[in-house]
Amino acid sequence: MFTQRLLTWYDEHKRSLPWRGETDPYKIWVSEIILQQTRVQQGWDYYLLFIETFPTVESLAKAQEEQVLRVWQGLGYYSRARNMHTAAQQIVELHQGIFPQQYDDIRKLKGIGDYTAAAIGSIAFGLPYPAVDGNVLRIISRIFGIFDDIATQKTRQKITDICTKIIDTQRPGDFNQACMEFGATWCTPKNPQCTECPFLNQCYALQHGQVNTLPIKSNKISKRERYFVYTIYIYSNNTLLEQRTGKDIWKNLYQFPLLETDQQQYEQIENYEYQLREVLTHQIVHAKFIVETQCQSLKATNNQIIVPISALNDYPMPKIMTEFLKSKDLYEQK
Ligand code: ADE
Repeated sequence: MFTQRLLTWYDEHKRSLPWRGETDPYKIWVSEIILQQTRVQQGWDYYLLFIETFPTVESLAKAQEEQVLRVWQGLGYYSRARNMHTAAQQIVELHQGIFPQQYDDIRKLKGIGDYTAAAIGSIAFGLPYPAVDGNVLRIISRIFGIFDDIATQKTRQKITDICTKIIDTQRPGDFNQACMEFGATWCTPKNPQCTECPFLNQCYALQHGQVNTLPIKSNKISKRERYFVYTIYIYSNNTLLEQRTGKDIWKNLYQFPLLETDQQQYEQIENYEYQLREVLTHQIVHAKFIVETQCQSLKATNNQIIVPISALNDYPMPKIMTEFLKSKDLYEQK
């Protein structure tokens, strides 16, 4: 009953999206990876650009990593792009460039977890695996009245088991997309549209006044706070960039020369032009930008390069850098 009602709702209310109705597993994969940590509205243009730039698995496998990162620039969570690049090469090497059609083979590709394997398998190949994301955890907790902590693996498994039982085996891809769609547009975390809900007479949370308490989510992850001071050295319309290396956020992306400090030192810095903060999954990055226009020359150390200000767009950068560049016209700083 739940399943048929959900599918009926989906048939009436689904949004028209660039990847809807798509049957090419490669394109479905790209859309699912983009949408993992990005809202539909923001992901839309990136999806179109990505598919235009890399229309096939082979074209992605053959690309330079830097080119992949440039297309991804501004979306954040760059390991998604790096993993896709690696996975495309795995598909070429292990599957002759043909996207694998079995759940276990899909699941083994770099960057593909249970959720993404189920989403691709069900949408592209009709495999009956539920794609359990935050939307599904919320919908099922509310409708079925589940008070277990959705942050735990045990609860995820419990909800996955429920979905495995109720998934429509004729339309598993639509079932999964209907859950995502219903969670994203109707049964939202705040202010869900309960008065027009197809599960009005059925939803445990609604009938028991628990819509705002469910789902239960404990132990919010504590985030590491970091303090970055970027210096923009300007001389003769050129500036310095360095590439990030090592096992840290934003690997291989470019940035202005960076000094990482502690909170106390950071707060004492007053000669900055601009200040930004970016919240990541496990970290909060505070950044101050100092613009240095009194240079007599530019000297690049061995990990740095001299770049014309007009060419800054050619380098893949973290969002915090592009946000800064959007807000400041460096040409005015002479
Ligand atoms: N979020 C994740 N995957 C999605 C899809 N296929 N359609 C809409 N929203 C989504």
